[in-house]
Amino acid sequence: SVTANNGNSSNNKGFISRPAFLPKEHTKDIPKTGDFDRMSYAQWTLKCTDVPQFDALEAAAASFRTDDKLHLRNLCNDSARCAGLTAVHMNEGGRRRLHLDYSRQQVTGEVMELLYDLADAVNFHDRREAMRRGALINSTEERAVMHHVLRMPRGYDFSIYGTPINGSSAHYGRAAGRGFQKSEGNVLLQNVHRVQEKIERFSNKVRSGEIRGVTGKRLKNFVCIGIGGSQLGAEFVHEAFRADPRAAKAAQGRTLRFLANVDPVDFYLTTKDLDPAETLIIVASKTFSTAETMLNARTVRKWLDDSLASISIKQADITAKHMIAVSSNPDLCKKFGILEQNVFGFWDWVGGRFSVCSAVGLVPLSLQFSFEVMEEFLAGAHDIDEHFFNAPPRDNIPVILGLLGVWNSTFLGYGTRALLPYAQALRRFPAHIQQVDMESNGKSVALDGTPLLHESGEILFGEPGTNGQHSFYQCLHQGRVVPADFIGFMESQQPFALEKEVANHDELMSNFFAQPDALAYGKTLVDLIQEGVPAPLRQHMVFAGNRPSSSILMTKLDVFAVGQLLALYEHRTAVQGFIWGINSFDQFGVELGKVMAKNVRTQITAARLRGVSVQGFNGSTTSLLELYLNHGKM
Ligand code: F6P
Repeated sequence: SVTANNGNSSNNKGFISRPAFLPKEHTKDIPKTGDFDRMSYAQWTLKCTDVPQFDALEAAAASFRTDDKLHLRNLCNDSARCAGLTAVHMNEGGRRRLHLDYSRQQVTGEVMELLYDLADAVNFHDRREAMRRGALINSTEERAVMHHVLRMPRGYDFSIYGTPINGSSAHYGRAAGRGFQKSEGNVLLQNVHRVQEKIERFSNKVRSGEIRGVTGKRLKNFVCIGIGGSQLGAEFVHEAFRADPRAAKAAQGRTLRFLANVDPVDFYLTTKDLDPAETLIIVASKTFSTAETMLNARTVRKWLDDSLASISIKQADITAKHMIAVSSNPDLCKKFGILEQNVFGFWDWVGGRFSVCSAVGLVPLSLQFSFEVMEEFLAGAHDIDEHFFNAPPRDNIPVILGLLGVWNSTFLGYGTRALLPYAQALRRFPAHIQQVDMESNGKSVALDGTPLLHESGEILFGEPGTNGQHSFYQCLHQGRVVPADFIGFMESQQPFALEKEVANHDELMSNFFAQPDALAYGKTLVDLIQEGVPAPLRQHMVFAGNRPSSSILMTKLDVFAVGQLLALYEHRTAVQGFIWGINSFDQFGVELGKVMAKNVRTQITAARLRGVSVQGFNGSTTSLLELYLNHGKM
């Protein structure tokens, strides 16, 4: 077992001194009794910089910076090493494969062992178990984090609340001891299934035409209003399903669109060619108070009213028949005019960015693709949940990905990460995971409130290959080092073959296989001389290589696999947060800008309506606002 390094020290990266760990006053928060047999507060709040393994990894990282033997060009030629740096997860008797090859990461087997040691030292396994069992690990908001429960199938036994973890176990923050009773797990799961059954009934009725709009027309257009976690996940899944033969068949004759931006252009483009009489609006908002979503909801309600209201059709009926909600605030939904039976709830233990598998994703996507299809998606996510919670670390794909993320960003100093799916259907996957990851891990403070001694959270971006190759790959190859995840599939959703020799999918996949090697090996001056490249051009054509990447190769991108991918990347994010010792599940960083915008909005309104001058801003903002407000005036 590992003891915390509580002393003050600085390290060779010039980090600030480590503060004395665990101020005394925290100990008063540790309850004496509770449902969980607890770790000490010190154990629970450990972060990677508190344990000696951190220094060992720093030393290892230093050699990767200086030792040419550790260039990927050399490492990748060691077949024994490469064979060891893979992990495979199989289903359907081996017919469905999720294969991770991380041999092109700047790691050796020894580095991986140090990373597993680091995970052990910061009690990663207990943290993951605490999440699984519903402990209040989102300590700043005193909430559990249980999106995995949303994917548990009917009949699953989830009566594990309250059992000790590893015979010792955990204190989870301020709210520890207020965990669930042992018997409550299955009750909670029953509630999840009850909402799912309601979604199934409702979506079936809309799809069959039993539920119709106010004029009696069938509802075949669905507009989902929501932003951030209440939009990006469902949008990514929608894109991923559009070309899947089974899901596409189920969606025939229907349209699903997402309205997120408060920019009126988004409203215009979303609705301009839709018939309101055939349109059902889903307002997806956990709080039902997000400014953008509520303004869009009111705007769309007016659009419906302007077109459908008449002597015989009242506005209240239009809202009742054409607007439904997904929210954990039923009172506000009712106040808006949405019928109680048309509100689909979820719980405070589902974070917005982890809510795709709640009603947030299930309602719009079941309307479009059927609940039956969505059940298969949930099964894919559940499959990876089980893998994440049960597989040993060395075989555990989200754990390996998360540890590599920590290694690349904290130890090797690469602050950016690219997500590169070689699948057009995953067009919106990077945008969704960007939110999952950056809103979760972009923090500067540890669980115990002390400043982190390193940066956490990577800047994540991505585009499908091969499109990205003609855009930002130049920078990846010859500019900055950006660790990348390549995702590819053995079978295409649409296997066209224009030419006999090479199927179009093979053309795509040729790039998937080539790019990671190009990044890893690069091209040397010697290569260029041998190729006869003219001297003045040679330096411009050198590729330094040594750029790390992982390759994820899956059997096919069907509904089940989309669920798997979602859960894989959700859990990867949690792993990194657990190792860094941060709370990945709050998002106070989004608040300040929102509050300041409220003040600006109030002042813009006062200036427009009553000619009041803006005040209280700095000189720059005042003159920008004056420019804006005076635009168009004589
Ligand atoms: O601004 C960030 C955020 O709070 C996200 O975390 C959340 O998913 C999104 O806004 C939308 O919030 P809501 O679902 O309450 O409308």
